[in-house]
Amino acid sequence: MMRPWLLCLPCILGVVLHQGGAAEEGYKRKVHIEFNSTYKGTTVNLLHIRAVGLEDTVHYVWSTMGVPTMLLVHTNSAHSMLHLNWTKLVSSSPFKAIQIEPSTSVQHATALMFTRVFEYYDGNNTADFTHISKPNFYPAYDLEYLVWEHGDWIFNASTRTAVFRGANASDSSHFQNGSISFQVTAFDSTGRENVPPSLLHTANSSKIEFRIEGVTPRGNFSRFGLEMVMLERKGGFKTMKSVQTIDDEYTPTIFKMAQMLSHAENKSHTQSFMQWKAVAYSSPMARRDEALPCQYYDLQDQNGTLNMARTIAQAYFGENLQENHIIQALNISFGIADGDFYDNTHYLSWSSLIGIGSPPEESFSIMVICIMAVALGSPVLLLLVGGLVVFIWKKKHYSEYEPIN
Ligand SMILES: *[C@@H]1O[C@H](CO)[C@@H](O)[C@H](O)[C@H]1NC(C)=O
Ligand SMILES: *[C@@H]1O[C@H](CO)[C@@H](O)[C@H](O)[C@H]1NC(C)=O
Ligand SMILES: *[C@@H]1O[C@H](CO)[C@@H](O)[C@H](O)[C@H]1NC(C)=O
Ligand SMILES: *[C@@H]1O[C@H](CO)[C@@H](O)[C@H](O)[C@H]1NC(C)=O
Ligand SMILES: *[C@@H]1O[C@H](CO)[C@@H](O)[C@H](O)[C@H]1NC(C)=O
Ligand SMILES: *[C@@H]1O[C@H](CO)[C@@H](O)[C@H](O)[C@H]1NC(C)=O
Ligand SMILES: *[C@@H]1O[C@H](CO)[C@@H](O)[C@H](O)[C@H]1NC(C)=O
Ligand SMILES: *[C@@H]1O[C@H](CO)[C@@H](O)[C@H](O)[C@H]1NC(C)=O
Ligand SMILES: *[C@@H]1O[C@H](CO)[C@@H](O)[C@H](O)[C@H]1NC(C)=O
Ligand SMILES: *[C@@H]1O[C@H](CO)[C@@H](O)[C@H](O)[C@H]1NC(C)=O
Ligand SMILES: *[C@@H]1O[C@H](CO)[C@@H](O)[C@H](O)[C@H]1NC(C)=O
Repeated sequence: MMRPWLLCLPCILGVVLHQGGAAEEGYKRKVHIEFNSTYKGTTVNLLHIRAVGLEDTVHYVWSTMGVPTMLLVHTNSAHSMLHLNWTKLVSSSPFKAIQIEPSTSVQHATALMFTRVFEYYDGNNTADFTHISKPNFYPAYDLEYLVWEHGDWIFNASTRTAVFRGANASDSSHFQNGSISFQVTAFDSTGRENVPPSLLHTANSSKIEFRIEGVTPRGNFSRFGLEMVMLERKGGFKTMKSVQTIDDEYTPTIFKMAQMLSHAENKSHTQSFMQWKAVAYSSPMARRDEALPCQYYDLQDQNGTLNMARTIAQAYFGENLQENHIIQALNISFGIADGDFYDNTHYLSWSSLIGIGSPPEESFSIMVICIMAVALGSPVLLLLVGGLVVFIWKKKHYSEYEPIN
């Protein structure tokens, strides 16, 4: 009675609607990347990504000077430029060595610093910082004192990626074959990467992948965490938000997305964001069984407690960071209670997106739309077809009586 291909109708309809939505997201930017591995005999490196849109520019500036730091500056001009005074940057007072000109075009600026990597003994297998007492933390890896590798081979113009790889040169028992690294990827359009978590990115964002590779753990029950510090001018503020999704096609079994949003005083829209799926991976393949759920802890105001290294945040925002800026910090820990320990694979990777405006919203994937369409659509179709059959049957039935009139 009902033809099987009818079942596909809602699916096709769903895909058409989905494509229609995707076309709107096709905002593109021209991406320019400059990488300076080291400046004249110093260890200061600098990566500048300039993502130019129709009427605006997003600048991402990275350096491992001090601690690995990213500056995000959004301007309302397609011609804004980075002005860099190298001699000043490498001097003991780098304030204002980095400027974005024209400065009046700057709409929003924020800095993100990666300060410490924690390793702790998780004998109770809880994977939760709040249940770990101080003595169970090994001395943290202070990223300020790692030595960062320099060289052109860690910058790849064709994939628009750069890697900052750090190790403790004087600690061969843990870092002989290992490193802690940050991989930055720039995007010029909307899309997804092949490897999970395959976050939906747009031209308004870039990706940061944090990795611990081959570092020898200090115990068999080691787990890791990461501390980040965020900074912006007074008046702005950040909020954390946890978003639930029902679609886990790209990250099996992970339904949680974390978002850190920057707001400006008296402005309703989001200025910038950092977004991540609540998952890390214990292998570069990032297979389903290698997913390590992760969790974040409360944003902490850093009130006078922060002893800040000399970073490109100072080079841009200037002196007296603590007085004129809001400084907050956030911890993330990797792993799940009763899950595997780092010792299993000696590998950990965690990805996040950072960009301007509101974070990309996951719409339902085509697969989920099809499943929903078939699941929800078939009964509706059956009802419709059934209704039609009954209608026609009735009409036919009544018409048989018509001649009586
Ligand atoms: C990206 O930013 C531009 C300029 O601010 C905006 O017009 C566009 O809608 C944004 N695109 C996405 C996908 O967020
Ligand atoms: C930095 O890199 C850019 C292009 O990659 C190059 O033109 C410039 O001269 C470099 N600057 C320094 C100080 O090395
Ligand atoms: C760069 O900074 C140094 C030291 O502060 C200063 O002497 C020099 O004039 C500056 N160069 C430019 C081009 O502004
Ligand atoms: C395990 O839990 C017990 C009870 O809460 C606590 O006393 C102990 O310190 C924990 N051990 C570790 C290694 O965290
Ligand atoms: C850049 O990445 C591409 C694709 O992964 C690779 O084929 C190429 O060899 C890389 N280039 C360098 C200089 O590493
Ligand atoms: C590097 O290793 C040395 C020797 O083990 C240690 O004294 C130092 O604290 C380590 N530095 C960092 C940043 O972990
Ligand atoms: C580093 O790798 C070499 C060769 O594979 C191995 O002999 C050495 O034991 C490793 N060192 C550590 C600290 O794992
Ligand atoms: C880790 O486990 C191995 C094998 O089970 C054992 O030989 C080693 O002593 C353990 N190391 C620590 C620090 O517990
Ligand atoms: C925000 O609004 C308040 C009250 O309306 C005002 O006092 C303040 O100056 C405004 N701030 C900015 C940055 O416009
Ligand atoms: C830190 O907080 C205390 C109380 O909340 C306040 O009195 C102090 O001025 C603050 N310090 C800075 C540097 O903001
Ligand atoms: C992160 O966790 C470590 C270890 O528990 C703690 O010392 C530090 O204050 C935490 N930082 C933040 C920003 O919560």
